[in-house]
Amino acid sequence: MNKKIISRIKELKEKNNAIILAHNYQLPEIQDIADILGDSLDLAKKAQDTDAENIIFCGVGFMAESAKILNPKKNVIIPDIDARCPMAAMVKPEDLLKVKKQHPDAKVVSYINTTAEIKAISDICCTSSSGVNVVKNMPDKKIIFVPDQNLGAYIQRFVPEKEIIIWPGFCSTHHNIRKDDIFKLKKQHKDAEVLVHPECRPEVIDIADFAFSTNGMVNHAKKSDKNEFIIVTEKELCYRLQNENPDKKFYPIKHAICPNMKKITIEKVLNSLETLEPKIALSEKIMKDAKKPLENMMNIGRGD
Ligand code: 13P
Ligand code: SF4
Repeated sequence: MNKKIISRIKELKEKNNAIILAHNYQLPEIQDIADILGDSLDLAKKAQDTDAENIIFCGVGFMAESAKILNPKKNVIIPDIDARCPMAAMVKPEDLLKVKKQHPDAKVVSYINTTAEIKAISDICCTSSSGVNVVKNMPDKKIIFVPDQNLGAYIQRFVPEKEIIIWPGFCSTHHNIRKDDIFKLKKQHKDAEVLVHPECRPEVIDIADFAFSTNGMVNHAKKSDKNEFIIVTEKELCYRLQNENPDKKFYPIKHAICPNMKKITIEKVLNSLETLEPKIALSEKIMKDAKKPLENMMNIGRGD
């Protein structure tokens, strides 16, 4: 059955001048059919670089929206319109506007895991791989950072001279990872290096060897002399890591699952290629206002 679906997906990709971009947390079946796998920053860049007319975006809503905002002329299609990041919903425009009013001297840095409406009232966006660089680069001393409290606190470690007003949002997939989860794995795999995502709690980051974005982990594992790694982020990243490093071993946190990333299936990808739906559609005004902060982010390099 899958073979038939996969061969039809290949045919339709060609016929429709389409490309499949997939985030590193996608199901193995999606990773296998993707033209490009990446983290949020890498996928935003690849969406800008492609000549394809139709981008099938296998990820969550904010990622596909960012691709659309950066490429308004292309069709950006997300195979399940309900695949959304719950953390992105933890900051509402009216609440952010209130805080902006209370701190007129502060600039707003929004994590790419936000709605287009929030980006539209931000000064600059960032991803997990560029957050530290983005904030370091700003001349401003006062920053409002939305919505992830853990990434905000992580960035603050590198810029003690700045005041960061940190929004209390979080990603449950990462926030529910506890030190004990790592200690248990470390007991079984004493030589394994611990790589964590900066969306984890500060005390989890403290006991890791390194903190990286998902592509940061991919790059590090490839060049490291180490052979074993405890991967402290959504578990599906281990599928990509294992595929690309067959001689190394990767140990996931088994309960770290993002249910929204899992809403994309190959049947839905096929349906999107047949219908070129559902398309990302945003108002002209939001697209225009959200583009600047995203472009500002694209001008700043990765930190890993
Ligand atoms: P990355 O940009 O590091 O892939 O992170 C995206 C994300 O949603 C993490 O939960
Ligand atoms: Fe959002 Fe967390 Fe899923 Fe990333 S893992 S998309 S932050 S819910």
